[in-house]
Amino acid sequence: MALKNVNPTTTEAWAKLEAHFAEIKDTHLRSLFAENENRKEEFNIKFNDFDVDFSKNRIDSKTLELLVELADQAELKDAISKYFGGAKINATEGREVLHTALRTSKEVLVDGENVVEDVQATLAKIEGFTNKVVSGDWKGYTGKSITDVVNIGIGGSDLGPRMVVDALQYYKTPLTTHFVSNVDGDHVSEIIKDLNPETTLFLIVSKTFTTQETITNAMTIKEWFLQSATEADVAKHFAAVSTNAEAVASFGIDADNVFTMWNWVGGRFSLWSAVGVSISLAVGFDNFKALLDGASDMDSHFETASFEENIPVVLALLSIWYNNFFGAETEAILPYSQYLEKLTPYLQQAIMESNGKSVDRNGDAIDYQTGTIVWGSTGTNMQHAFMQLVHQGTKLIPCDFIGYEESLYGKEEHHNKLMSNYYGQQEALSNGKTKEEVIAEGKTSESVIPFKVFAGNKPSNSILIKKLTPKSLGSLISMYEHKIFVQGIIWNIYSYDQWGVELGKVMANKIYAEKYNS
Ligand code: F6P
Repeated sequence: MALKNVNPTTTEAWAKLEAHFAEIKDTHLRSLFAENENRKEEFNIKFNDFDVDFSKNRIDSKTLELLVELADQAELKDAISKYFGGAKINATEGREVLHTALRTSKEVLVDGENVVEDVQATLAKIEGFTNKVVSGDWKGYTGKSITDVVNIGIGGSDLGPRMVVDALQYYKTPLTTHFVSNVDGDHVSEIIKDLNPETTLFLIVSKTFTTQETITNAMTIKEWFLQSATEADVAKHFAAVSTNAEAVASFGIDADNVFTMWNWVGGRFSLWSAVGVSISLAVGFDNFKALLDGASDMDSHFETASFEENIPVVLALLSIWYNNFFGAETEAILPYSQYLEKLTPYLQQAIMESNGKSVDRNGDAIDYQTGTIVWGSTGTNMQHAFMQLVHQGTKLIPCDFIGYEESLYGKEEHHNKLMSNYYGQQEALSNGKTKEEVIAEGKTSESVIPFKVFAGNKPSNSILIKKLTPKSLGSLISMYEHKIFVQGIIWNIYSYDQWGVELGKVMANKIYAEKYNS
């Protein structure tokens, strides 16, 4: 049940793509649009509330055909069925990769056991806990209800919940949610300085329960709590999410307040598990469940749609096209919604911790490019910050534009202006502005003309979604999760381990012991 092991650069499709690239690399998007009046319809996928327009990419029908051939020759179909079927595709850690099992109702067997039953039991526990805390029935040590929740975690135990809680703030319960992640003591101090221990609930979220930052912050917070409360009160104010029951117990957390997770859930894909308990508290269990349902819908689309009509597959293939053929170094993710401000930091971990690998599935060094560097920020703010470089700089930076047809508060004039910018940027990147066009305007002196020319031919995807809801957000996150998977399969790497973060941790512990704790 191991993943097949294919060096993509040795496939027939790769050779054909290289030849095709030589033919198409200088063709301008203006010509591609002029040559094919059906381009917008041809390069578009609609799914539920998603309308993905990928016509502004430097491709033609042949490119897509060859990219799909590459996916076939990399045995992507076989890999998808192993991924969803619970094979141990995280081979270097001997684990399954089953974040999809956290949002399905279908049976998923791990070592002969249907894990979905455990998942449902944990979801029921999250629901009960959420309802008790949100309704005010859960009382703190002086009999008061909870007003504030603090998520203590880092990496996947922080970025996912933090991003979703921020993105779904419109759907918020009366609770206020805070996040402590950095081992920087000023971070935790700033968070606790205004909190009342009588009305605050702390969630210690750590898959391993050994992470230096999280345990240090949790200890500091417990000490602060015990300045006004007693050990016996800890059970009313501390809960934990972890696979490490022993370490959680020795921290002094009541067994009833422990939410289990499983080794087959990777940290950076764990927001769907009990790691998302802060999401459930922040927006209510029904909205948390809707988030899972949205992800599940995208899972089904990914699992069943043909590659040409498959959103995560097409986005992954386009990204490979730029990364491995055009030599693009980075990709920008540009949501036109202030709610999605934290999407990029979240995706940086998901994408770069997964696919930042230089050894293939044989254990051999790779001589082609893998993991993309992703960065970005929200529109329209970023138009006044870094877009200059995307429009007129020397680097090719493919962009994902994410927009919504409807705003949440219905301020029409704002939304129309926002979306005019959304479309305007994509148009400007694609078409550019020629010297002739600058001259025709008749406003520019001869010497300034070159500076006002835009080469254009800068690729972008438009990911247009009806409305920001828990469900559509779930689908959006799942879309990127599967894009990561497809790229890892084609690059022939293991996307689900993260050995690259270990050395720095060991060094920090060594330096701490030698320099600060002797
Ligand atoms: O340092 C990387 C990492 O292992 C991530 O993959 C993970 O999300 C994060 O640390 C936190 O780990 P834990 O949940 O075990 O505290």
